[in-house]
Amino acid sequence: MIKVCVIEGDGIGKEVIPEAVKILKELGDFEIIKGEAGLECLKKYNNALPEDTIEKAKEADVILFGAITSPKPGTVKNYRSPIITLRKLFNLYANVRPINNFGLGHIIGKIADYEFLNIKNIDIVIIRENTEDLYVGREKLDKDTAIAERVITKKGCERIIKFAFEYAVKNNRKKVSCIHKANVLRITDGLFLEVFNTIKKTYENIIEADDYLVDATSMYLIKNPNMFDVIVTTNMFGDILSDEASALIGGLGLAPSANIGDNKALFEPVHGSAPDISGKGIANPMAAILSVAMLFDYIGEKEKGDIIREAVKYCLMNKRVTPDLGGCLKTKDVGDEILKYVRNK
Ligand code: NAI
Ligand code: MG
Repeated sequence: MIKVCVIEGDGIGKEVIPEAVKILKELGDFEIIKGEAGLECLKKYNNALPEDTIEKAKEADVILFGAITSPKPGTVKNYRSPIITLRKLFNLYANVRPINNFGLGHIIGKIADYEFLNIKNIDIVIIRENTEDLYVGREKLDKDTAIAERVITKKGCERIIKFAFEYAVKNNRKKVSCIHKANVLRITDGLFLEVFNTIKKTYENIIEADDYLVDATSMYLIKNPNMFDVIVTTNMFGDILSDEASALIGGLGLAPSANIGDNKALFEPVHGSAPDISGKGIANPMAAILSVAMLFDYIGEKEKGDIIREAVKYCLMNKRVTPDLGGCLKTKDVGDEILKYVRNK
């Protein structure tokens, strides 16, 4: 039986993950092990990611993660985010972030008060390198100068760029775009782009390849998002561009993700713990539930992933949605609607 380590975390993580687990259990037989992490956990055990949770995550085949609240800067010495630690610990080097509105741009644009963005039908996948870059945690203060090291390795570039092209091949995608800032970060992003330009040759007649600067990309994403298909980029740019791109499909409530390594994978909504809405029961559980769909894809049960995506599409079409998408349903109601749909399939 597949073992799933479930880490709800803080804030709305505790609200959306139970809905995602409902769907997970409905569609498959899993052994579920619960682990704790985050700010509440830090207060309780003086550790945001206890050894016990790490052991449970090690034991599990896959991890389902909610979101955690970061402590205020300067309040906890040597703090390292649990999610970043988990990604690094299990070498989950590929962060796959689909930005897809199921061809319902016209509906979401209307209900979600995003009309100013003129929401189109969007289907982009952002593939973010997940273990290097500014996230290696090498920051220091030297008198009045704060320094962060940006680490980009050839091996790290090769595996993420190959992953992106292979992803494109397997998922019938047409193009991979490399997003970088090699004009300024000439050595680090220079290496990323150089590796991209080498690897793209292997796929020459199968997958198109191009590259853009990250600043221009953030403009193109709003002006002409459909010029992108698969995006491959470094850690920090991927983090920022995926939140930006989520606005194109109605917000973070609809953005799932998979963190994939060679031996393990972790699934989580892109969003954080959303303290502004937590405790109200109104968080959109779709991003967490769509992350479960990605979990099914990963374990080779794509047809179940498709049923979940169909259920989400059904809810969007029928305006069975939470307030972030202009609806009046609670987190739990949306979970129940999706459950009902998959049950009747
Ligand atoms: P956030 O993603 O939690 O929220 C940003 C905005 O989107 C808020 O207005 C929020 O209400 C809304 N939003 C997010 N998810 C939603 C959902 N499912 N349904 C409806 N609305 C939703 O980012 P924020 O506010 O910058 O960070 C809050 C905390 O989360 C911070 O402590 C941050 O460090 C942490 N964080 C944790 C992440 C993780 O655990 N992977 C990722 C991002 C942030
Ligand atoms: Mg982020």
